[in-house]
Amino acid sequence: MENHLLFYILLALIPALETSDFLITPFRNIQKRSADDLIVNGIEIYSMKIDSKVTSRFAHNVITSRAVNRANVSKEVVFDVDLPKTAFITNFSMTIDGVTYPGTIKEKEVAKKQYEKAVSRGQTAGLIRASGRKTEKFTVSVNIAAASKVTFELTYEELLKRSFGKYEMLIKVKPKQLINHFEIQANIFEPQGISELEAQGSFITNDLSQVIKKSFSGKKGHVSFKPTIDQQRTCANCSTSLLDGDFTIKYDVKRDSPGDLQIVNGYFVHFFAPTNLPNFPKNVVFVIDISGSMSGIGIQQTREALLKILEDIREDDYFNFILFGSDVHIWTDTLVKATAENLKKAKDFVRAIDTRGMTNLHGGLMKGIEMLTTAFETNSVPKRSASIIILLTDGQPNVGVSDPQEIQANVKKAIQGRYPLYNLAFGYGIDYNFLEKMALENKGVARRIYPDSDSAIQMEGFYEEVANPMLTEVELNYPENAISDLTQNNFKHYYDGSEIVVAGRITDNDLNSLTADVKAQGAENDVTFSEQADVEETAKALQEQEYIFGDYIERLWAYLTIQQLLEKRTVAQGEEKENLTAEALELSLKYKFVTPLTSMVVTKPEDNEDKTAIADKPVEGTDIFSFTLLREFK
Ligand SMILES: *[C@@H]1O[C@H](CO)[C@@H](O)[C@H](O)[C@H]1NC(C)=O
Ligand SMILES: *[C@@H]1O[C@H](CO)[C@@H](O)[C@H](O)[C@H]1NC(C)=O
Ligand SMILES: *[C@@H]1O[C@H](CO)[C@@H](O)[C@H](O)[C@H]1NC(C)=O
Ligand SMILES: *[C@@H]1O[C@H](CO)[C@@H](O)[C@H](O)[C@H]1NC(C)=O
Repeated sequence: MENHLLFYILLALIPALETSDFLITPFRNIQKRSADDLIVNGIEIYSMKIDSKVTSRFAHNVITSRAVNRANVSKEVVFDVDLPKTAFITNFSMTIDGVTYPGTIKEKEVAKKQYEKAVSRGQTAGLIRASGRKTEKFTVSVNIAAASKVTFELTYEELLKRSFGKYEMLIKVKPKQLINHFEIQANIFEPQGISELEAQGSFITNDLSQVIKKSFSGKKGHVSFKPTIDQQRTCANCSTSLLDGDFTIKYDVKRDSPGDLQIVNGYFVHFFAPTNLPNFPKNVVFVIDISGSMSGIGIQQTREALLKILEDIREDDYFNFILFGSDVHIWTDTLVKATAENLKKAKDFVRAIDTRGMTNLHGGLMKGIEMLTTAFETNSVPKRSASIIILLTDGQPNVGVSDPQEIQANVKKAIQGRYPLYNLAFGYGIDYNFLEKMALENKGVARRIYPDSDSAIQMEGFYEEVANPMLTEVELNYPENAISDLTQNNFKHYYDGSEIVVAGRITDNDLNSLTADVKAQGAENDVTFSEQADVEETAKALQEQEYIFGDYIERLWAYLTIQQLLEKRTVAQGEEKENLTAEALELSLKYKFVTPLTSMVVTKPEDNEDKTAIADKPVEGTDIFSFTLLREFK
């Protein structure tokens, strides 16, 4: 009897002690398992949990990692995670032997001064972090005494984007060692109802696939992944971890109406994604860099991508190719319809594309714009059609007009807001900032294409996102006297499988219901949509749910507003830029987002400011290798 009692007490103590594999081992599979392979370099990470709450596409993620120093001397513990580029860190804290050191968010300059002061005393170490294709690295290291414990807790938030008909959440998994308690938990709450939910891991083998648990019903969805230590091993006897790669959750919601309006605590969000619309015929001009530097993998993968794109082009679409090296070459004088015969000719042309000369980007781009403009003036393309220009380049303009500012000005003047310009930046020898500015100024976006074996897939992937325009000139309106602080509400195109999101603040406290009116041009005629939400009812419906983290619409609004201010700031100059910066900074500080204008500072209270760690968000565009300044905790 007494023995039993002791046994129960021990078990009860285990969670309270946050204890590690040492105590638990005897109760588990004992077969030649030692706790030794859980300890790497004296450090045992005994628990790592990724807890994700998604409310209406807005994700709030907390990564908690707990480690103990099993060595008899002090050791360094590194907390090293990859976050999606689109995410903002909102909180970070370290708890060492029960004492918590919270992070605070400060203006970048203020944080940097604090950091530099420490550097000048020779007591700091700066770590460089490289960002991956879709992720950024966050690293913090701390020295802890023998037998000490440390808990790292990182929070980040992001608005999940819909593409190809699904919202996607990416969780990078790379614990680098076996972890006694490893767990991913995602809870999704969608007021419209969940229509599908998938979860997969790039590292997951057949054996492990049943460890992923997923379920959804009504408005709620749940995904969990909790592999045991043995399931984490790369082989039965290995002490290395299989967990290394992307864990992806994808889902979509039910769409009974074209949009959904939600209101909570004085903020509203409008999700707009109509389905079953007739396709718009489109006009696509591909402006392709064939300068010498594109030779080899660049041009080869470009040809491959273009051939694949030609397979998917629809018969009522019009297209053309403009190639630029030192000179500008056009395939045909005017846009051609994608008939079977023309497609065959186009494929022959694409197969023969080769590199030559330098980079006359201005000449190529201006030719493409002129061709579209002429096509409309001469009625050689349908009046109701959506036009896009896709530029692919890998280098700096150096023939013809080569001054980036002059190119930007000429391009903007020639496009006059009529066609979105998408700039694909191939490789690293590029002024990404210039391409981004030029795209944003012309209602498009810039994307990087990473030179790799899958470059062609990246290019096609981008094309597919914009391949199906369903509406053009989309304008979303709300009663002006009842709202303020509206995010962007005009969109050049709405593409199939994507979603338009608009948020704002409600200024009329007595408002009973909110109406959204959407106007757009459809393939056949002008269309309108209307959406209405009852303020009290939606608030009630949302507040009942335990899934929701309070003021998610307000944070979603702040997230969108900051993203859009930062984008506008990229293009702006002088006082306007200063104003946009000030506004974005104020919101970043108020809502505690680590944006390119703020840094997270962590200081041990009993120490002086030398003992400071700061974390920055790298800016895409300076270069692929962005800096972050991190102070090593000693
Ligand atoms: C610390 O551990 C090492 C290796 O396990 C051992 O050789 C050494 O004697 C230990 N030192 C103390 C002070 O316990
Ligand atoms: C940040 O995280 C710490 C530790 O969990 C918590 O105490 C603190 O309240 C959080 N801060 C914010 C602003 O959420
Ligand atoms: C695993 O390790 C045990 C003990 O060291 C050994 O006997 C066995 O052969 C190993 N198995 C494999 C598949 O390597
Ligand atoms: C910048 O902000 C100031 C103060 O709010 C305002 O007076 C000024 O007109 C703004 N300038 C621009 C270019 O927006």
